[in-house]
Amino acid sequence: MRIIRAKDYKDMSRKAANIISAQIIMKPDCVLGLATGSTPIGAYEQLVEWYRKGDLDFSAVTTVNLDEYKGLPKEHEQSYYYFMRKHLFSKVNIDPARTFLPDGMEPDSEKSCNDYNRIIAETGGVDLQLLGLGHNGHIGFNEPGDAFKAETHCVDLTETTIKANQRFFASVEEVPRQAYTMGIKTIMRAKKILVVVSGEDKAEILRNAFFGAITPGVQASVLQLHNDVTIVADEAALMKCD
Ligand code: F6R
Repeated sequence: MRIIRAKDYKDMSRKAANIISAQIIMKPDCVLGLATGSTPIGAYEQLVEWYRKGDLDFSAVTTVNLDEYKGLPKEHEQSYYYFMRKHLFSKVNIDPARTFLPDGMEPDSEKSCNDYNRIIAETGGVDLQLLGLGHNGHIGFNEPGDAFKAETHCVDLTETTIKANQRFFASVEEVPRQAYTMGIKTIMRAKKILVVVSGEDKAEILRNAFFGAITPGVQASVLQLHNDVTIVADEAALMKCD
């Protein structure tokens, strides 16, 4: 596990984008595992900037996202599909046919999850998986529990997550109660993992996840067992790790 210390959010974003762009330059037809949420937005902005300068080419890149809300159509502003289009896909030369997310509008959970597992397998495997860290230690939508779930599955979101996401919806009732997410085994199969963490409010969970016990109560703690994890975190997030 490598920890890269960044000064602040901007610096964290730039350092994370550097790692992602190195992956694309080294292997132009790489498979990137992507995340939504507020933390990676700055890194996506930086990648777009480098693309516009002519330093990056996404034409052969394939992406698979971690998760998607169940029941939100692609056009919904809070769907992760919409998020990815807004922050990255519509701004670079990626082939839309090579960008994948779980199908949130497939009501049959088993079918949606099996389809997504097959899509991920057909890409040949994720070269670099980008992750944010939830306040409760979740990665993707793998919520605290008593087991690590292996493959893509449908989750009931916890009250903490519903509350955390409420700010993006008109009312708490509108926040979806379920989501499809890659499982822990899927995430752990990625060749390289890049975790981005920013802000004082993540300091405690960052310490618990990477320096505490490995437990499904803190799903991100399993990353301690992966042999190529890089954490890019700002000073505020690292304040409890000294
Ligand atoms: C997003 C995802 C989530 C977020 C996590 C942190 O696709 O899977 O696990 O990475 O909730 O979110 P932010 O970055 O908004 O704090």
